[in-house]
Order: sequence, then C-alpha cells, then structure tokens
Amino acid sequence: MGRLEDRVAIVTGAGRGIGRATARRLAAEGAAVVVNDVDADPAHETLELIKQDGGRAGVSLANTVDLAAAKEMLEATVSEFGKLDIVVNNAGITRDRMFHNMDDEMFDLVIDVNLKTAFHVTMAAMPYMREVAKAEIKANGHPRYNRKITMTSSVAALTGNPGQFNYTAAKGGIIAVVKTLARELGPFGINVNAVAPGFIETRLTAAKGAGDDLGIPEQMRQMAIAMISLGRAGRPEDIAAVHAFLVSPDSDFVSGVTIPATGGQIGGMG
Ligand SMILES: NC(=O)c1ccc[n+]([C@@H]2O[C@H](COP(=O)([O-])OP(=O)(O)OC[C@H]3O[C@@H](n4cnc5c(N)ncnc54)[C@H](O)[C@@H]3O)[C@@H](O)[C@H]2O)c1
Repeated sequence: MGRLEDRVAIVTGAGRGIGRATARRLAAEGAAVVVNDVDADPAHETLELIKQDGGRAGVSLANTVDLAAAKEMLEATVSEFGKLDIVVNNAGITRDRMFHNMDDEMFDLVIDVNLKTAFHVTMAAMPYMREVAKAEIKANGHPRYNRKITMTSSVAALTGNPGQFNYTAAKGGIIAVVKTLARELGPFGINVNAVAPGFIETRLTAAKGAGDDLGIPEQMRQMAIAMISLGRAGRPEDIAAVHAFLVSPDSDFVSGVTIPATGGQIGGMG
C-alpha cells in the first residue's frame, strides 16, 4: 500500500519539470492528483502519463494568479474527488536580468507566478483543509490525519543569485510564509514545508539562446554543475521525492522548514 492511498492532491505547475515529476510520484504513491498548469498540452501529457501508470488524476488549467480561478479549481477538485488533503505550490517562472536593468513588469510577473499563486491556492484550500480539520477536532479531539502543504522555493533564495532580484524575492518569500503558515495551521494538523532545489535539469535551467525569456547561459550551467558535490545535475524526480516525503505521514512531525535539495552544492546552504 502506498503512503498516499486515499489522499487527494493538487500540484501547481505540473505540466513540466519538477511539478510533473511530483504529480507522477504522488499518484504512484496512491494519491488522486489534480495536475494544474496554464499550458494545456503539457498538462494533458502529465495526466496521460499518470493514467498510463495506473494512477488517478484530473487537469486544471487555472491561472491562480487570479484568486477566483484558484477558488474554482478547488471547487472542481472537491466535486471530482470528494475532498482535498495535499497542496503542492510549485508553479514558478524566471525572468532574469541584472538588477539595474530590471523593470516593474519582470518583477511583478515573477512575484505573481512564484508567490501569489501559492497565496491564492493555499487561501482557496482553507475551507477544505482548515475548516474540515477544525470540524474533526470539534467532533473527535483531533484531526483524522495530518493534511499537508508544500512549496517549491529555491537555493537561490538562501545564497542570493546575480540577475534574480525578482526571483529571490519571491522564493525568499516562500521560505518565510512557510514558517508563518506552519504556526497558524499547526493547531489544525496541517504541516507546511518547502523544498529548495539546487540545479535541476528542466527548461528553467536549459541553455539560453539569444532573446530567450527562460534558461541560463551555457557557461553558467557548466559552473553550476561543477559546484555540485554529488557530481551531477539534479533531476525533477530528485525533488519530487522530497515533496513526496513532505506530504506523506513520514513527515508528520516536520513543519515550518525548507529542505535544501542541491546535491551538496558547494557554497550553497546544503
Ligand atoms: N529547475 C531548477 O533548477 C529549479 C531550481 C530551484 C527552484 N525551481 C523551482 O521549481 C519549480 C518548478 O520549476 P521547473 O524547473 O520544473 O520549471 P518548468 O518551467 O519546467 O515547469 C514550470 C511549470 O509551471 C507552469 N506555470 C507557469 N505559470 C503558471 C501558473 N500561473 N499557474 C500554473 N502553472 C504555471 C509552466 O507552464 C511550467 O509547465 C518552480 O517554482 C521553480 O522556480 C527550479
């Protein structure tokens, strides 16, 4: 029996990369998973992969930068799967530029996708997580089981990173709000934690061509990989495994922390 049998989860940014690997891992451990991404084709590919593996899943194309969209996603999730136990706030984007060249549009977009989606999805989940736990506590003295919220931060927020004023502001925000939410939601048996990945091979870390919005220069890629003690870049599955631990009963006494998963990045915090 999987660690997540009978659990229902939402994973944001699950059409690609770390989110896809996490959605697949949670489904493989028994959860029904709502795959949320703003890009329809990759989201449906993730859904198909989970189904091929014998898992249960649905898709939401909600852009939860909008709170109303987050609420609709939560209502649809609970109407399809009956409840909600796990939220993985993973959606993220980069718009790197040295600080003196950064403008409001790049700042706002990166804060919106990395931080505001986490705010809105978590807020929209409260009636199904906090209120349900509260009713269980009233009836039985304790919640039936611990519910879980995780987020994807970044080691860049622990070390700083040139060109990422916007991104480190958002990811540092994630580390801080995880501590606040852990304190607010702990009394309801809701654990709140984050993973801070180091260098993971996804489109965010792919070699950047001239004019690309995402990605990083090849020279920086090679430098980043050379700094990893374990001698290889991370894979999305490496981070999915940490999210899976943090949403499973194995971490019932872990809350308010950010776990660096960097392969022992030299100069990094982990
Ligand atoms: N790749 C790395 O090395 C690395 C390191 C540290 C942290 N992270 C973080 O990991 C998370 C996943 O990144 P990834 O590397 O897998 O990137 P990715 O680009 O492969 O996947 C991110 C997904 O998020 C989706 N997305 C964008 N805006 C969205 C929105 N508003 N709502 C829902 N989905 C949205 C994208 O369409 C994409 O499919 C991000 O939060 C990122 O900042 C990545």
